Amino acid sequence: MIKAKPFVKWAGGKRQIINELKKYIPEEYDCYYEPFIGGGALFFYLAPKKAVINDSNSELMNVYNVMCNDEKYNKMCHLLNNYETKNSEEFYYEIRDKDRNREKYNKLNDYTKAARTIYLNKACFNGLYRVNSKGQFNVPYNKKTIINTYDKENLLVVHMYLTMNDITIMNTDFEEALQKVKKGDFVYMDPPYDQINSSFTSYTEEGFNHNEQRRLAKVFKELDQRGAKVMLSNHNTELIRELYKDYHFHIIEAKRNINANGKKRGKVEEVIITNY
Ligand SMILES: C[S@@+](CC[C@H](N)C(=O)[O-])C[C@H]1O[C@@H](n2cnc3c(N)ncnc32)[C@H](O)[C@@H]1O
Repeated sequence: MIKAKPFVKWAGGKRQIINELKKYIPEEYDCYYEPFIGGGALFFYLAPKKAVINDSNSELMNVYNVMCNDEKYNKMCHLLNNYETKNSEEFYYEIRDKDRNREKYNKLNDYTKAARTIYLNKACFNGLYRVNSKGQFNVPYNKKTIINTYDKENLLVVHMYLTMNDITIMNTDFEEALQKVKKGDFVYMDPPYDQINSSFTSYTEEGFNHNEQRRLAKVFKELDQRGAKVMLSNHNTELIRELYKDYHFHIIEAKRNINANGKKRGKVEEVIITNY
């Protein structure tokens, strides 16, 4: 069967370092857990038969949920076809600004919200997901001429994969999403990067600061004690070296593309940490 690929471009997406990550995947495991799923680069690459995926971003997890339901998936695709024919700068802002009226927005059905998320991700500047303090999506239009506003074939493959396997979808905090992990499971954690001089961190309404990195390191340790195999990726900073000093460090270099400021693009040292 053809492999599904991420259906959104996501900040911190791991497609570029899959070849590095795959070197450290355990040969055998029961359930696959990914509590910071984002676009799910590794998840789709591994295509596990049993998995629990989670992210605190509700708009994103709504898309995964809609993808799991035949009827909703078809309705979402119908809308996406329609958006593709209408795509223009004016239309983009019409769709984007639907969340300016919260009350009205909340009444939209889940497949309409999902179509909006996919369309905005393709048509916005650089595929960024960014909301302002009111939770309103505020990325401008990508002025390039886009031929395809969504990848029809891939969406179908994602839909088939999610519905034919045992995939649990959650939309909560990482700690809660990992409560049922047991011995023999494999957990891949890809949190927002540790930032020394905080630049782009607002994936959701809340930031992920140093205390969050510390809380995550505690969870890593608990999972290790439970007998799960745990792999984590992050920047190779002083804090990360301190928090995971008892585990194995595998240093890699990766090129980051999502950064609104072109000058900051470049090589950032990243690290993969494992407890095995
Ligand atoms: C680096 S991205 C993951 C990228 C993903 N591996 C990929 O390939 O696209 C980090 C994700 O963590 C999510 N996140 C931030 N804080 C969280 C929390 N407390 N619990 C769960 N997810 C959170 C963000 O919404 C974001 O999608």
